[in-house]
Amino acid sequence: MTDAAARGRIDWHGRRRGRRLRPHRQDLLSELLPRLRITLPPAGASLEPSALFPRPPSQLWLEVGFGSGEHLVEQARRHPDVGVIGCEVFVNGVAALVGQVERAALANVRVFDDDARLLLATLPEASIDRAYLLFPDPWPKTRHAKRRFVGPANLPTMARILADGAEFRIATDDMGYVRWTLQQLVGHPDFRWTAAGPRDWRNPPEDSVETRYQRKAIAAGRPPVFLCFERRPRPGKPRKSLRFGGRDLY
Ligand SMILES: C[S@@+](CC[C@H](N)C(=O)[O-])C[C@H]1O[C@@H](n2cnc3c(N)ncnc32)[C@H](O)[C@@H]1O
Repeated sequence: MTDAAARGRIDWHGRRRGRRLRPHRQDLLSELLPRLRITLPPAGASLEPSALFPRPPSQLWLEVGFGSGEHLVEQARRHPDVGVIGCEVFVNGVAALVGQVERAALANVRVFDDDARLLLATLPEASIDRAYLLFPDPWPKTRHAKRRFVGPANLPTMARILADGAEFRIATDDMGYVRWTLQQLVGHPDFRWTAAGPRDWRNPPEDSVETRYQRKAIAAGRPPVFLCFERRPRPGKPRKSLRFGGRDLY
């Protein structure tokens, strides 16, 4: 049991295990995961995420619920200077990710193999430069709305850990989740929906990487929607001065 599970502070309703892992996958988990795994700091302490990586990363990106990890691995491969933190509770997904990290020899990936909410609570204010939530479990029944990742329980944490101007990207093929997300985030004091028109949410962002769920959704005739939000700048912070002609304009 990880120390996170031992803390047992939050309920978990999804799957943690699928098919029995093949011996090769099991070996990957036992040999490689300990090198990539993020361990929570002692209760009440905060984590220093940059220190998780061999070199200080230029930025820190986070993916909640990376599934089999294809998106996370590709982003990490494209951006070797960025430290990419992935959270996933589904052990088969973690094993798949670890194998890809090994094959691509990536030094900029770290994994929290438990409920993301436990990790997020330990991250410092404004420490994350980008967050991905791709095809989260939609929990379509109204009585399960509390289980949706996007909601009043997690948004204050996301607002706290995201840096000013950071992108929070949410993709889903569930129209109920689209409506729910917009209800939660449009008009939110800490987030701004960046879409200027339908093309911005109907088409994948330019740097998008297709995930397994995305492929399944498209094959099933459910077009995905991409909702990109910006963490609004915190009020009261001095603006950077603008210099013109050798003088500070403000
Ligand atoms: C529908 S799947 C999508 C997986 C992947 N993002 C994709 O697009 O293929 C949602 C994933 O989120 C994971 N998940 C849900 N809530 C989570 C949480 N609080 N912390 C970590 N992982 C979570 C689940 O285990 C599951 O693998």
